[in-house]
Amino acid sequence: MALTAIKGFNDILPGEVEKWQHIEMTARRVFSLYGFDEIRVPIMEKTELFARSIGDVTDIVEKEMYSFTDKGDNRVTLRPEGTAGVMRSLIENKLYAADSVNKLYYMGPMFRYERPQKGRYRQFHQIGAEITGVADPKVDAQVLTMLRHLFAELGIHEPTLEINSLGCPDCRPAYRELLKDFLRGKLSDLCDDCRRRFDTNPLRALDCKAAGCKEATAGAPAMLDHLCTPCDEHFAAVKRFLESVGTEYRLNSRMVRGLDYYTRTTFELVTGLLGSQSAVAAGGRYDGLIADLGGPSLPGIGFAMGVERLALLLEGDKFRVTPDLFIVALDEESQGVAFKVMCDLQRHGVSVEIDYEGKSMKSQMRRADKLSCRFTLIIGETERAAGTAPLKEMATGRQVDVALDAVPIKEALGI
Ligand code: HAM
Repeated sequence: MALTAIKGFNDILPGEVEKWQHIEMTARRVFSLYGFDEIRVPIMEKTELFARSIGDVTDIVEKEMYSFTDKGDNRVTLRPEGTAGVMRSLIENKLYAADSVNKLYYMGPMFRYERPQKGRYRQFHQIGAEITGVADPKVDAQVLTMLRHLFAELGIHEPTLEINSLGCPDCRPAYRELLKDFLRGKLSDLCDDCRRRFDTNPLRALDCKAAGCKEATAGAPAMLDHLCTPCDEHFAAVKRFLESVGTEYRLNSRMVRGLDYYTRTTFELVTGLLGSQSAVAAGGRYDGLIADLGGPSLPGIGFAMGVERLALLLEGDKFRVTPDLFIVALDEESQGVAFKVMCDLQRHGVSVEIDYEGKSMKSQMRRADKLSCRFTLIIGETERAAGTAPLKEMATGRQVDVALDAVPIKEALGI
């Protein structure tokens, strides 16, 4: 049997990986502008952490987790998302003691046993950011504005920011009952999943994609019309602050999100370009989560972006870094000189390629072209004797003689 990768687990190959590096570097740069520090947490946690944070009756916990018992008889899970582990770490390391406000970002692989398709994988990657310790609506607006800023820096303008409020433990239970009353007569129209979770998680029917659920929930009461006064005021302020800085959004009162820890503001950046996998980034407020996990009563808000989906939206291969110089050597002795000049230049910060196998000049030039090297330098017997060689700019054909030394070559390259 041929050894292949596991279904839904992908290699990110050279050529594509440069796009990922560009996304990661842009995210790091923008996050640091907004005062975020990186945190790295394990990719495996105790299963209970995810059951308690994401929620027992969510698709993720019920169906999608890679959970197993390790050799020490512990129930462990490959993380399906980043927020739970980051909050576990915040509590365990008492990060809130040194500073009540923490701004943390993370990037790395997540694992969900979903049906793979374009934009949906079993190992996928998130870049996420979380702010804990501030309940003020300005923070919601700040997080959303940063997210839009990051997308703009990446040159991705198409996705729409959709926002909603899911209320809080004071107003959501009454709304749930209202929604259940509305749906009770239409239970037979709901899909199996929505019918099964009618008692435990009836809100999911609102953003279920099944035709019957869409029909049954048409005209259903909206959470936004049933917020308690503090939640209503919070949401009004979030919208006001977003408008004050020109961050565009659209209301989506049907957005429920697939994780149970959310309170108040939730949001998604949605695109029409990725088929059914429309969310490129998503998140929200989770004011009760830290206390639920055994920590202090601290509010939090954050988001995660799907890197595969971002990479699909970023067109082209302009992210590949091409070598500055290819040194062509015309005989064996010149190969030694080319090797030495290359090593010197690399130590001076110039990216250089040579041929290691004594190939013909024509084949070396072909390789220089294939690698899109900006310059070539040709060394043969005459050049060795003179101590200078012709440096040619590939795009223009312009040629100058340079001394066979790292510093003058680097200067001539304009680096
Ligand atoms: P989520 O909506 O489950 O939220 O995932 C966030 C993003 O991860 C999605 O919008 C999507 O771009 C990407 N994603 C999710 N599943 C897959 C998959 N199977 N394949 C490819 N990409 C995927 C969270 O995970 C929350 N932790 C976000 C958050 C942070 N909320 C507050 N703080």
